[in-house]
This record gives sequence, C-alpha cells and structure tokens, in this order.
Amino acid sequence: MASAPARVVITGGCGFLGQMLARSLLRRGTLCTHTATGVEGSAPIGELVLADVASPPRLLFEELEQRAEIAVGDVSDAEFCRSLVGRGDGPLSVFHLGAVMSGQGEADFDLCVNVNLHGTLHMLEAARRCGAPRPRFVMTSAGATLGSGAPTDWVTQDDAVSDATRATPHTTYGMTKACAELLLADYSRRGFVDGRGCRLPSVVCRAGAPNAATTSVYSAVVRETLAGVDTSSPIGPGVGHAVVGHRPAVDALLTMHEASAMAVDATLGFDRTVFVPSIAVTLAQLDAAVRAAVPPHAASLLGRVTYDVDERLSAAVGSFPTRAIGMWGDELTAADLVRHYAEDFPDALAEGVTLLGTDN
Ligand SMILES: NC(=O)c1ccc[n+]([C@@H]2O[C@H](COP(=O)([O-])OP(=O)(O)OC[C@H]3O[C@@H](n4cnc5c(N)ncnc54)[C@H](O)[C@@H]3O)[C@@H](O)[C@H]2O)c1
Repeated sequence: MASAPARVVITGGCGFLGQMLARSLLRRGTLCTHTATGVEGSAPIGELVLADVASPPRLLFEELEQRAEIAVGDVSDAEFCRSLVGRGDGPLSVFHLGAVMSGQGEADFDLCVNVNLHGTLHMLEAARRCGAPRPRFVMTSAGATLGSGAPTDWVTQDDAVSDATRATPHTTYGMTKACAELLLADYSRRGFVDGRGCRLPSVVCRAGAPNAATTSVYSAVVRETLAGVDTSSPIGPGVGHAVVGHRPAVDALLTMHEASAMAVDATLGFDRTVFVPSIAVTLAQLDAAVRAAVPPHAASLLGRVTYDVDERLSAAVGSFPTRAIGMWGDELTAADLVRHYAEDFPDALAEGVTLLGTDN
C-alpha cells in the first residue's frame, strides 16, 4: 500500500539553510517516515511548509516560490507551532532551524531564550501531540554548545572535539542550543518524537545577507570578495575557525533524517545529537582561496579584505576548538568552499568574475 504523503515543516525555513534544505527536499521528492503501523517506509512529500518569523521579498530559488507554502509566525508562540504540524492524517517531519543567532542572542537574553529554548519546546510539544506516528524531528544545534579558553572548561583550543565532549557554553545562544539538545533527547527517549540533532560548525559560505553570528565574517570573506565588495574584518587573518560547507551541512540534515530508527537508537542511544565534521580555516586562507579560484583578468574585480581587529572577539574566536570529529564526511578544503558557493550562486559574483576552468 502506498504511504500517505508526508507533511514537512521547516522552521527558519526562509533562512539560508532552510531554503537550501527545502530545495534538496523538493528534488528528492520522498522521505523516510514512521507509518501508522509503526514501521518505517518511504513517503512522498505532500506539503512543504517554510515557517519563519519573516518572509523575504524573494526566495533564493524559483522552485520554492512555486512549490513551498510560507507560514509567517514566531516559534515562541505555542499556538503558531501547533498550527504548523497539521492534523496528523499522514506522516510528519519537522526540521527545526528557526533560531536567534549568537550575536543577537548575546545582545538580547530574553529573545534568545524565548525563541531558541521555548520555541524548541513548543515545536517538540506540537509534534508530540499532532497525532502523526512518531514524527521525525531534526534539529540544528551548534558548536557554540561547547566552551573553551576558560581553565574550568572541558575542552581547549587544541582539542579535536567529539560527540563525547562535555557542553560548557560561553554564550546564551550556546546555552539554549545545549538545553534544546537535552529536550530533544528526552522527547525521543519517551517516544514522543524521533529526534535527531546536527551540531553544526559555522557554515561557509552562506548566500544572501549576512546573519547575526559573531563569526559571519568567515562567509563574508568569500561572498563579498567574489561580489567585488570590500570587507573589514574584526577577527584577525590567522585565527582558525571550525567551518563546514553549505552542501555538506544540508547533506548532514538529510542523512540524519533518513537514518533508520533502529540505526539511530543503536548508534546514539539516549543522546540524539552529533557533530557535523568540520575543517579549520583562517580568513587569510579563505581570502587566498578566492584569489586562487579566479583567472588573472578577474583578480582586479574582487573585493579587498582589510582587518580592523577587535582583540576581544578575535581572542574569543581563537579559543574555540577548530576540529570536530563526526560520524561521516569527506575532507573539505577552503578551495572547495569557494567553488561550491560560486557554482551554486553564480548570480552573486561581480560582473566579469568567473571561476578558473568553468564558464561561471
Ligand atoms: N549558519 C551557520 O553557520 C550555523 C552554525 C551553527 C548552527 N546553525 C543553526 O542552523 C540553523 C539555521 O541557520 P541559518 O544559517 O539558516 O540562519 P538564518 O539566520 O539564515 O536562518 C534562521 C531563520 O530563523 C528565523 N527565525 C528567527 N527567529 C524566529 C522565530 N522566532 N520564529 C521563527 N523563525 C525564526 C529567521 O528569520 C531566519 O530566517 C539555526 O538554528 C542556527 O542556529 C547555523
């Protein structure tokens, strides 16, 4: 018997990763879900809902304009969250990405707790009570759940972190994400949802407008330079930072969703969140990779990167661990990050800027 179509809700769906993920989902067309009889099966994607507190004038991809439904609202409003999950007449998958970022979270404690902590709880509750059999619930956590650089921390800058590294967040953002991981684990242990979390490092390179992450300059150095726009960085050129590309970040979310419940139970046990493997890059390496990626005639069209270093911020970022060991993943390079961005967003490159060896 054919499975009923799945309802897929992406909170933060109008954000960068939300839209990248939505496009990948539409291209796949099906998802692994729990059926009413308790077994897992493949279901066609019926409705795809992008739930976000703000809807941009234009989405990144035309196919999303055509095929995705946009629901504008705030995940810190429990009623809005309930309205997203449907009536339980088919499988439900939630990708919970909607969040306040680290910079904004440090500026506004109440907003960060309301959105990132209460919002996660509201989405978990909505999924639990929607009537669909054991909804898959994929959540984005962050490397900011860890601390580093304080004598009492469990991890120092030189450590390669793993899923067993203890969380000692230094920011309200990191604290809310660590709490959300524990909520996801307990809702899963009780069988309310089938939760899986991805602890992401900084995603490079994000398209469109910068977000309010304290480390957003690691994307700006690629994006703005290729767009012919100058960047002034508050973080020093030699400060290494843990990053992942946007393609592997989306792959990680899909891989976690598609893993069988038996495999997840056996591998993760009571913990439901894993690190997405990262590589360490500096701003100088990213800048050099951009310049090496274009032919000589395009070099003069690139933006320039200058440094107006905020020593406190630079030292804080420099104290983060730069390597996360995760469950899968090929080694990326700075050159890959630049190429993937330029291939996926050719319209964002300055006129006349092409990649070596391509027509882009
Ligand atoms: N991009 C990264 O480098 C990175 C790194 C680690 C973790 N993450 C996590 O990945 C997720 C997606 O990040 P992104 O890079 O796409 O960021 P983004 O800022 O592009 O997207 C986040 C989206 O959440 C929405 N949002 C904010 N408050 C909301 C609310 N109250 N209700 C509903 N939606 C709300 C925003 O409007 C935005 O569209 C976030 O949970 C983030 O914490 C991202």
